[in-house]
Amino acid sequence: MSSTKIKAKISGTGMHVPPKVVSNFDLEKIMDTTDEWIRQRSGIETRHHVEGQGTADLAYEATLKALESAKCTAKDLDLIILSTLSADHMFPGSSALLQHKLGLETTPAMDLRAQCSGFLYALNVAKAFIESGIYKRILVIGAETHSPVLDFTTRGRDVAVLFGDGAGAVVVEAAGPQDSKSSVGNIVLHSQGQFADRLWIERPGTSGGTWFTEQHRAEGRQYPYMEGRYVFKHAVERLIEVTNEILEKEGLGLGDIDHFLFHQANIRINEKVAEMMKIPLEKCPSNIQKYGNCSAASIPMLLDEVVRSGRVKRGDKLLMAAFGAGFTWAAGVVQF
Ligand code: UT7
Repeated sequence: MSSTKIKAKISGTGMHVPPKVVSNFDLEKIMDTTDEWIRQRSGIETRHHVEGQGTADLAYEATLKALESAKCTAKDLDLIILSTLSADHMFPGSSALLQHKLGLETTPAMDLRAQCSGFLYALNVAKAFIESGIYKRILVIGAETHSPVLDFTTRGRDVAVLFGDGAGAVVVEAAGPQDSKSSVGNIVLHSQGQFADRLWIERPGTSGGTWFTEQHRAEGRQYPYMEGRYVFKHAVERLIEVTNEILEKEGLGLGDIDHFLFHQANIRINEKVAEMMKIPLEKCPSNIQKYGNCSAASIPMLLDEVVRSGRVKRGDKLLMAAFGAGFTWAAGVVQF
């Protein structure tokens, strides 16, 4: 008796950003920063900010586009996995809100928290469900609404200028016999919680038996805190390491990869990784210039852009890698 292994493939992509564009010059007007500093240190020129929308709203718009491109409807989904660090509420998850917006009755939905690596974590969960035969079609989303939680005074400038709002979605489904070229390959995941306090939003939160006090507010602990240089150094090292790890696991060389989709945290991080690994920059598309760092949404947003622009074609081999708070990091190979 021969059993054929079920493979998972990405059948559709979508992305959405809210219409309001905020330039570096806009930020110059509200805090002590300059367009030059932001561009030189990060590569960012603009980002999009919500005006009343929440994470599930952005996820919904991206989902509609992904469903259309996968030629299916929300009712065809067996599971929703939404990765975010900026959920609409402490609970329930934004995935539940999205499920309702999509008009679904009892389709299971869950949030996944792995910060900037969240999309790759979620993609791996989806792949495992599909390959095991438990589900056939899964919506995987990365969605973030950072702007309401940023400190737009000079105190918060080192972080506030970097992040943007947006969502990216993919439909992952069991590949049919005609899909011999398309599959989600290996994905490797890592985390190192000892560095949790190097990049975090500490409050509100349950640790230490208090939720949110006046002192927390006065100290600004409700805003993201990042040790920028420390995170930068780790990001470069881990991204190189995990890129080599996934290539080895797949039995591939750098030259076998058509496009490297790195997390969009800082253009300098990706340029450094490319330089040290000798990856041609033409193989590393980026959109951080327009959108800033959209955490879990960055990779699926970039994927949708390169697919829709025709830069990525069916059958192309993509290597995706991300690093973020936790610390978490991950990499995967997808044959699109
Ligand atoms: O997505 C999760 C992963 N995140 C990342 O990977 C981000 C990693 N870190 C970074 O991208 C960079 O460290 C930053 C872009 C955050 C900062 O760049 P940097 O070259 O490491 O600058 P720095 O933090 O060492 O700050 C240099 C100077 C400081 O002033 P002094 O002490 O030299 O006088 C800062 O106070 O720049 C100052 N500064 C700013 N100046 C103008 C910090 N933020 C700003 C700002 N505008 N927005």
